[in-house]
Amino acid sequence: MTTQLWIEGGNRLSGQVDVQGAKNGVLPILAATVLTRDVCIIENCPRLSDVEASVRILRHLGCTAWWEDGALVADTTNMDRFDIPDDLMREMRSSVIFLGAILARLGAAELSYPGGCELGPRPIDLHLRALRELGAEIEDRGGCLRCRAAGLQGTELTLALPSVGATENAILAAVGARGTTIICNAAREPEIVDLQRFLNACGAWVRGAGSSTIMVEGGATLHGCAHRCMGDRIVAATYLCAAAAAGGEARLTGVDYRQLSTVTAALTEAGCRIRSEPRGIAIERAGRLRAIRPVRTAPYPGFPTDAQAVLMAALLRSQGATVFVENIFENRYRHVDEMIRMGADIRVEGRVAVVCGVESLRGAVLRATDLRGGAALAVAALSAQGESTISCTEHIDRGYEDLARDLTALGAKIRRIQA
Ligand code: UD1
Repeated sequence: MTTQLWIEGGNRLSGQVDVQGAKNGVLPILAATVLTRDVCIIENCPRLSDVEASVRILRHLGCTAWWEDGALVADTTNMDRFDIPDDLMREMRSSVIFLGAILARLGAAELSYPGGCELGPRPIDLHLRALRELGAEIEDRGGCLRCRAAGLQGTELTLALPSVGATENAILAAVGARGTTIICNAAREPEIVDLQRFLNACGAWVRGAGSSTIMVEGGATLHGCAHRCMGDRIVAATYLCAAAAAGGEARLTGVDYRQLSTVTAALTEAGCRIRSEPRGIAIERAGRLRAIRPVRTAPYPGFPTDAQAVLMAALLRSQGATVFVENIFENRYRHVDEMIRMGADIRVEGRVAVVCGVESLRGAVLRATDLRGGAALAVAALSAQGESTISCTEHIDRGYEDLARDLTALGAKIRRIQA
C-alpha cells in the first residue's frame, strides 16, 4: 500500500494556516549543531523526512537527537565519527552541508557525493573549492571524498556563483578555522541569515549574512542554544498560489512577508489582492487571473526557483500567456507533463516554458515528480473540475509536514489515502 493525495477541485478556499518552520533553514542548522559539543534546542523545527535524514546522520556520528515538546533537541557532546555512509548521503542532497561542520569539529571527514537529483546534475565543486581554500585537503576516490585539515585557516574567498549550499559549507568551516574569513559573492537567502543567527547564539562571530559579503571570525568555542527556526517561505508561497489557483481567501501566519516579495508581486500582477500583516500575509482572489510578465528564476532576492512550479500551477487558467525562464536548475519542468494531463497548455523549450491559460482544467491521475513539482500538482488540482489523485507523495513529504492538513485548514477538499 502506498500513500496518495486525493483532491476534489473547484472549491474556493477560506481559512488560515500557521506556516511550518523552514526546511532549507533547519537543515544547515542541524549540521551546525556538531560545532557546539553541547545541547541545541531547535524550536519550530518542521517534521519532515529530510529532517529525519539529518537526525540519522547525527546519530551515526555519535550524537543523540530527540523530539521534545515540538522541538528537536540535538546533543553533539559525544560525537566520535567523521564519516557519513553512502546510503545516508543519498537520502538527501543537503547532507553535503555536514562536510564543513564535521571538518571544523574533527579535522577530518569522509563522505560520498550526494549525487544528482531529480532536478538534474547538482555539482559540489564550489563547496570543495571553498573548503580547500580554507586549508582542507580533499581527495576524490571514485566518488568517495576523504577530507583532512590539520587546522583550517581563515582566508578571503570568492564563490564563482552565489550557491546557497557552498555559502553554508564555507561559513561552517570558517567558524572552526583560525582567524578571519571573508566570503565574497555569497548567496543572500534568508535561510543563511537564520544560520548566522543560530551560530551567533552559540557564541560564534558571523556578520553580513543576507548580503554578498560574509565575514567570520573563527576559532571561538561554541556552546548550545535554543533557536527558533524561521517560517518556510516556499511553503508559504505554495499556499498563496493555492489560494490564487482555487480562488477565495487565505491567511498565513508565521512567515515574513518581506521574504516573499517577488512571489507576491507576481500574484498581485496576476490580479490577487495581497496584504501584509504583523505576523504574516493574507491573499484574496475573486475574478479570473491574468497572465503576467516573464518570470525568471534567480538567486535571492530574485524569484525563487523553488516557487516556479507552484506559480505556474496558479496561472494555468489565467487569461493570456506567461513565459517562465528557469535559470537555476536544468531539469525543473518535470511537473509540466503531469499538468498537461489536466488539460493545461504549456510548451517547454530548454529553460523556457510558455503557459497559455485555459478556460478549465479537469481532474486527473497524477504522479509527483519532485518536491516542489509535486506540491504544484496539488495546487493545480485545486483549480481543476473533479477529482485528482497524486502518487509518489514521498517527494512532497521531504518538504511539507502535512500538505493535506494545511490545505484542509485553508478550506480545500484534500485527503491522504492508501492505494
Ligand atoms: C538550495 C536549496 C534549494 C534551492 C536552491 C536554489 C537547500 C537545502 N536547498 O539548494 O531548495 O532550490 O538552493 O535556491 O537550501 N552549483 C554549482 N556548483 C556547486 C554548487 C552549486 O555549479 O558546487 C550550481 C547548481 O548546479 C545550481 C546553482 O549553482 O545551478 C545554485 O545551486 P545552490 O544555490 O548551490 O543550491 P543548493 O544549495 O543545492
